[in-house]
Amino acid sequence: MRSCGREAGSGAALKSPSYQHGRIGRTPGRRRLAFRVQAAKTDNGPSLAIVGVTGAVGQEFLRVLKERDFPYSNMKFLASARSAGKQMDWDGNHYTIEELTDKSFGGVDIALFSAGGSISKKYAPLASDAGCTVVDNSSAFRMTEGVPLIIPEVNADHLNGHKAGKGGIIANPNCSTIIALMAVTPIHRAAGVRRMVVSTYQAASGAGQAAMDELEQQTREVLEGKPPTQNIFPFQYAFNLFSHNAPMQENGYNEEEMKMVKETHKIWRQPDVAITATCIRVPIMRAHAESINLELENELSEDEAEKILKEAPGVSIINDRAANRFPMPLDASHNDDVYVGRIRQDISRSDKKGLDLFVCGDQIKKGAALNAVQVAELLL
Ligand SMILES: NC(=O)c1ccc[n+]([C@@H]2O[C@H](COP(=O)([O-])OP(=O)(O)OC[C@H]3O[C@@H](n4cnc5c(N)ncnc54)[C@H](OP(=O)(O)O)[C@@H]3O)[C@@H](O)[C@H]2O)c1
Repeated sequence: MRSCGREAGSGAALKSPSYQHGRIGRTPGRRRLAFRVQAAKTDNGPSLAIVGVTGAVGQEFLRVLKERDFPYSNMKFLASARSAGKQMDWDGNHYTIEELTDKSFGGVDIALFSAGGSISKKYAPLASDAGCTVVDNSSAFRMTEGVPLIIPEVNADHLNGHKAGKGGIIANPNCSTIIALMAVTPIHRAAGVRRMVVSTYQAASGAGQAAMDELEQQTREVLEGKPPTQNIFPFQYAFNLFSHNAPMQENGYNEEEMKMVKETHKIWRQPDVAITATCIRVPIMRAHAESINLELENELSEDEAEKILKEAPGVSIINDRAANRFPMPLDASHNDDVYVGRIRQDISRSDKKGLDLFVCGDQIKKGAALNAVQVAELLL
């Protein structure tokens, strides 16, 4: 019988001020990596900067740094000229947001970037030249040769000796790639993935704070019988779904889908694995779901797969067939782990070389801020 293998809760993860409501069931526990550090503001910690601090990911950086007691001696908040001069309190101190300029990085050891690809392209090399080690959330450098693309639970060994205060750029993978590979890599290591077919159900949060605000506003407007305001997406989002808004490529795949293909090849260092993806935006506030079908090199039973996933770091199982209870975005929202369920043999095959999974992960957290902070922990 499948289990609902969630750990005893260690308390709710820090929540953003909004969207706390609607949580279903118990809060699954958060499992941390062995290299978690313990400190906070300390004279011998690195000097930090957050680029894009006012955004959805920037705000999550602050929650995650605090939650994990990340050590730091000094902190700098950077955003656009629009935010410069605004005040923010964090970790018992008062900060003034500064405008990002090419002089922002003197004396900074680690900068966490989340202000968009064009900002990263311009400022990450400047930061690196100033001796600051950059962890970049944008897609700007993910496929650049020599730039490590890191999911700490998957390929921490690809970090190439990068350290805080030594310069260099490390890229955070795309959120859908991180969430998929947290679940699929342990299976890949055990039985070898030959082909992966993914369909995503992606939340508003992946398109930033403005998209989350628009989904909330549209939902209210539709319920009140008003025409929905459409500033971020070209279609009604509330009570609807549509193909991912990333630019369409000549091959008929959108950029989000191709990121999953190319980034997986780089992270696994296996360009021969066959991968296809269909990425869809659904009117969910902040956690992505993915349906994943795997063709394996070697036989693997569903029980063996569940056992492997139960032991995988950063993965929790919700797989209760009797109760028809499997991962939902609300399980993952504001939590560290990627949740896996619907673990079953692919009945379209006569051998035991096919497996289906359904996964949910908080894409602002493990899909962005948490992953980047875990990478920063590896730099200490
Ligand atoms: N949302 C996600 O879950 C997610 C996941 C993975 C990666 N990412 C990547 O992370 C980046 C940010 O995403 P987000 O969702 O946090 O977006 P967001 O909510 O729209 O925030 C954008 C941030 O960038 C700042 N910014 C914009 N123009 C700037 C400029 N010229 N100089 C300095 N700062 C500037 C904004 O500052 P102002 O407030 O001053 O405008 C804001 O802090 C993007 O590259 C995105 O692809 C996002």
